Formats: sequence, C-alpha cells, structure tokens
Amino acid sequence: MSVRRLAVMAALIGAATGHALARQGNENGSDEPVSYWRQIRPLLQTRCVGCHQPAKAKGGHVLVDHRSLLARNADGDAALVVPGQPGSSALLDSVTAFDGEPPAMPKDGAPLDTTQVELLRRWIAEGAHDDSPAVEGPPVTQDNPPIYEQAPVLTSLAWSPNGELLAVSGYHEVLLLDGTDRHLVARLVGLAERIESIAFNRDGSLLAVVGGSPARMGEVQVWDVATRTLKVSATATFDCLYGASWSPDGRLIAFGASDKSVRAIDAKSGQQVLFSGAHDDWVLGTAFSLDGAHVVSVSRDRTMKLVQVATQQFIDDITSITPGVQKGGLMAVARHPARDELLIGGADGVPRLYRMFREQARKIGDDFNLLRTFAALPGRVFAVAFSADGERVAVGSSNGGNGEVRIYQTADGVEVCRYAGKGGIFTVAFAPDGRTLAAGGFSGEVILLDSESGAVRHQFVPVPLGPSDAALTQSGEEQ
Ligand code: HEC
Repeated sequence: MSVRRLAVMAALIGAATGHALARQGNENGSDEPVSYWRQIRPLLQTRCVGCHQPAKAKGGHVLVDHRSLLARNADGDAALVVPGQPGSSALLDSVTAFDGEPPAMPKDGAPLDTTQVELLRRWIAEGAHDDSPAVEGPPVTQDNPPIYEQAPVLTSLAWSPNGELLAVSGYHEVLLLDGTDRHLVARLVGLAERIESIAFNRDGSLLAVVGGSPARMGEVQVWDVATRTLKVSATATFDCLYGASWSPDGRLIAFGASDKSVRAIDAKSGQQVLFSGAHDDWVLGTAFSLDGAHVVSVSRDRTMKLVQVATQQFIDDITSITPGVQKGGLMAVARHPARDELLIGGADGVPRLYRMFREQARKIGDDFNLLRTFAALPGRVFAVAFSADGERVAVGSSNGGNGEVRIYQTADGVEVCRYAGKGGIFTVAFAPDGRTLAAGGFSGEVILLDSESGAVRHQFVPVPLGPSDAALTQSGEEQ
C-alpha cells in the first residue's frame, strides 16, 4: 500500500471517530464537516493572530493560514495540528482547561467557549482539511515583501511630527520614506492587504495603521517606529477599517468600520474600549476632541456624530439632520490642532468647518454648528487636513479621472493655491513646517506641492517597482 493511501486511510479513521464524538456537540444536527476557511480561520483570526502572525510570532507560532498550522516550526517541533489526532495537537491543548487550570491560550484573554473548542477538535478529528481558496505563491511577510508591477492606489500619507519620515500606504504594508531626500527607509509589512489610514501618535514613536482584507478581516496595527516592530495587531469586523485617529494622550486609537460602527482600542493592549452604533452607513473618518473626552465620526450616512468616550454614549449630530442639507456622504474629517473645530469633506465636494460642541439647543432645520463653507471642488472630497499651526486647510478631490488639491486660509476661506492633475486625490498631509503639502491618490504617486504656490516640487512612485514592471514599460515603448 502506498504511503499516500495510508495517509488517506488514517484521515478516514480519524474522521470516523471524530464524527461519532462530534454528534452530541453539533446543535444544528448537520453532518457537514467543519470548514477551515469559514469556521476555523475566522475564529483564530479573531482570538489568536494578534500574537501569532509573521510580524509578531509569540512562542515562534504563526496561526494565520492552514500551511502554518500544519508545519513544523523552525526548531523542528511537532506541528500545532496533527490531522486526525486532536489529542496530539498542541493547538487544541493550548485552548483546553486541565485539572482546574484555565486554558493557556489565548494568553491574558477570555478562554474560547466550549462550542469553539469543540469546533477545533472536530475539525482536527475530521482530518484538518484545507478548503481555502487557492492562493498564488507564498504569503506576503516582512521577509517576503510585496512585489509591485505598478504603483498601488495611494490611500493615506502621514508625516512624523518632526518631519523626518513620510509614511505612505502600500499593498500589505506601510512604507517609511526619508522626509528630506525621500529614499525608502523601511517597509512595515503586516497582515492587512489594504491599508486605508495611517497616523503617527503625538511624539512620533508609534504609527497606527488601519485597513484589512476585503470581506475577510479588519485590522488595527500599532508599530514601534524606531525599531520597526509590530506592537499590536487587533482585528475587528470581517471587512476593512477606516479613518484612524489617536487620542491626544496617546492611549486610544479610534476608527470606523463598514458595519456602521465607530470603535476605539487601547493602543497598548489592543482591547476594544469604545463601540458606538449610531450611524446608518459606513464610518470613514474619526477625530478626538482636544481633551480626548469625545470622538467625532463621519459616515456615508451624511452625518458627523459626537460620542462621549467614557460612557460610549451618542451625544449629538454635529451636522444638520434636516433632510437635504447635506448633499452626500461624508468621507473625511480632521480636527483643528488647537481648537475643537472640524473640517469635513464628502460627496458634494464642499469642504465645511464645524464647531464640535453645540452652544444652543437644536432647532429643527438649523445647522447651528457650521462655521464656514469653503468653495466647492469638482467631484467628491476624499481628503482634508489642517496645517500644524491651524492657519490653513488642504482638501483633495476626485472627479472622474482627475484630481484637485486646494489650500484655503482657515480664518476667512480665501484660496491660497491649487493643483490639478490626472488621477483622483485620496489623501493630503501638510509637512510639519507647513511649507510642503504631500498628496496622493489614484495614480499611486506621491505629489509634493509647494503650499504657497501649488507648484509640484517632486512627484514619484513610493514603492519599489519589480522587474516585471520594467519589462512592461519596455514592451510599451517598443510599440
Ligand atoms: C496576547 C497574546 C497572545 C494571544 C492572543 C494568543 N497567544 Fe498563544 N502564545 C502567546 C505567547 C507569548 C506564547 C509563548 C508561550 C507563553 O508565553 O505562554 C504563546 C504560545 C502558544 C502556543 C505554544 C504552546 C505553548 O503553550 O507554549 C500555542 C499552541 C498557542 N500559543 C496557541 C494560541 C491560540 C490557539 C490562540 C487563540 C485562541 C492564542 N495562542 C492566542 C501569546 C498569545
């Protein structure tokens, strides 16, 4: 008998015994085998991969994909999962209570519930099969960084507070560029395929990154900037996350989600500390008040909402709630560096400045908190930012295939300068000295503008392009 057939038989025997045992615990009475992709992977993703992924492999273990569960580790230790043998699988051991001792894993977290443990046990007993959709090539990690054939759409840019670094979103990674000569300093490769938003904390020691893998998971990453190490990976929801912002004391990171929620996590532990479900559509941006006691959020539901952090209570709609006043969904928000005033932009192309806190009771039909309306941009506004001194605002829009950036004076709305080019603008960020504005979007290029004149100082692709791109360009030139 061939080795292969032996293995198949062993798996069948395991499956048979596994099944008999599983029957009792199988509430819905279905005989369907447990699915790795639909049941096991999301469970491990929610409870385990924050500490067990390539960029942060506690105990040397990675639990992100089927391959890593069944592989021996670098020291040649037995795999965490031995198909057909739940009793010999360290994975199951680690989540099981013994002799009154709580399960070892998840470390410092609530134990899995008994149905989840039973699901793992059954999956292993049934042969620990892999029903993941086929993927091409090995997983993307720090040691196996993404290879680009063309520049990916740029969704987010952030300057470190001292201007020494410019962080740029890539695919599966954030690239750190030298703020002066623009060379690539480091690549922070994490789990999330799409990076939607990046933000430095106040002293620039930590970088928050939010994004995810569409229809699979949302993730918040916290990187130590000096050592380029991943401190926290916290998953939330099963889709991308948006609009990261730090609380002024650096304790919390707020973000929005496509499940209509606004959330915040503790930046050290990754634990969720705030959840608000007041919106009716995707939440795309967040900002804290100056004292950190409140967080605002903007949504495709056309509103900007105020939530109290300590109580997680919805406080107010900052924008008017009268139908028709807001013409389209809101996509971006930024808070003035020294005042509780908020700059928002969205589908109607009109940037608006609002005060955060209402000074008189709402009257039906009012838009009391509105301080200023800036001249409309063509298309939809996806990006808004204040300069570090609060004197200027920058906004970026996308209109069909074209993009526009405008800089206005905060105090009177007078336009300072503008830039227009090919490709929608999805992100803008003033350098800390206020003289340069970084912008980016559909073209994948970083555009560095003189913030007085709007003139382009530099325009470049921030990601290293692979050899296949060189080939593409060449064949293009031959035509
Ligand atoms: C907060 C971080 C954290 C989380 C979350 C976590 N682990 Fe661990 N895990 C560790 C650390 C640290 C070790 C190294 C051993 C130790 O310190 O106990 C480890 C070790 C392990 C080991 C090796 C066996 C052992 O006890 O040394 C397994 C298996 C394991 N984890 C499985 C899991 C599973 C399954 C989950 C999710 C249900 C999970 N871990 C969640 C931090 C974590």
